[in-house]
Amino acid sequence: MDINTKKLPIYKLFINSKKYSIKWSSYFQVYEKIFSTYRNKKIKFVEIGVANGGSLFMWQNYFGKKAKIIGIDFNPNAKKLQKHGFKIYIGDQSDKKFWDKFYQKEGKIDIILDDGGHKNLQQISTVHHSLPFIKDGGKIVVEDTSTSFVKKEFNNPSKYSFINFAKNIVDVIHKRSPLLGKNLNFYSKKVFLVEFFESITVFSIDSRKCFTNKEISNKAKNEWAIDYRHNDYFSELKTKLNKKYGHMNKKSLLRKVFRKLFYRNFIFDILDKIKIKKIFKEMKN
Ligand SMILES: C[S@@+](CC[C@H](N)C(=O)[O-])C[C@H]1O[C@@H](n2cnc3c(N)ncnc32)[C@H](O)[C@@H]1O
Repeated sequence: MDINTKKLPIYKLFINSKKYSIKWSSYFQVYEKIFSTYRNKKIKFVEIGVANGGSLFMWQNYFGKKAKIIGIDFNPNAKKLQKHGFKIYIGDQSDKKFWDKFYQKEGKIDIILDDGGHKNLQQISTVHHSLPFIKDGGKIVVEDTSTSFVKKEFNNPSKYSFINFAKNIVDVIHKRSPLLGKNLNFYSKKVFLVEFFESITVFSIDSRKCFTNKEISNKAKNEWAIDYRHNDYFSELKTKLNKKYGHMNKKSLLRKVFRKLFYRNFIFDILDKIKIKKIFKEMKN
């Protein structure tokens, strides 16, 4: 455990929680980063995975008295924690019917944190069925996402792992770009930001910020800028050839060949791909 983590308020509340809890040591720095602005606010915070209740006490003390802390667990014993002021629901996080009932009762919530069963379907169902019910400015946080790479018990890596699902959401939010057409769905209309930490994925929800993007310019004049994107390769050679043959008739074959060579994407694409493949290899090793 590093010394900085020990100084974090959330870590101190974890250590001193009156009920047992286990968390990974890197989580506390993430909690501070993503949750600190919600402290002492009137929020509804939901945690899937209650176990002994240790983290419920930690969250209540961290977010303060105004926060309503709700727990969800498959284990009926979790209900016992209601006497401490927590609202507890018993059910299966991978069951759509459970979520329908839950949100019918609770209405919209601010934050949901998934520390439940950590299987692909459980994590994916939580995100999918909760997304319509997260308030603007809220978050969906999924813990223990390293299970997306674990064979035993979790059957991963797989095309259908939680992390692959989350990577697909990254694709989907890009549909807000006019370069990609306008087929927006409830993910692209609600998910503003996806953050990947080691073993924690965070979706920041805000429909107000999920508008279709458009290009705008400022008041100043464009004096000399042109797009140099295609000038990366052979730019020196191109200048030399232009000097030598640039005076030739525009329709000349030579000029056409030069254009093909220096302006068409296919050459650059091939050269780019070679370089990118090398970088991918270095990144994955
Ligand atoms: C890692 S523990 C939770 C620990 C707790 N958050 C803490 O920090 O003290 C995981 C809990 O998820 C519950 N769980 C497992 N699968 C579940 C499911 N499909 N739906 C709801 N809860 C589930 C288990 O019963 C267990 O209590």
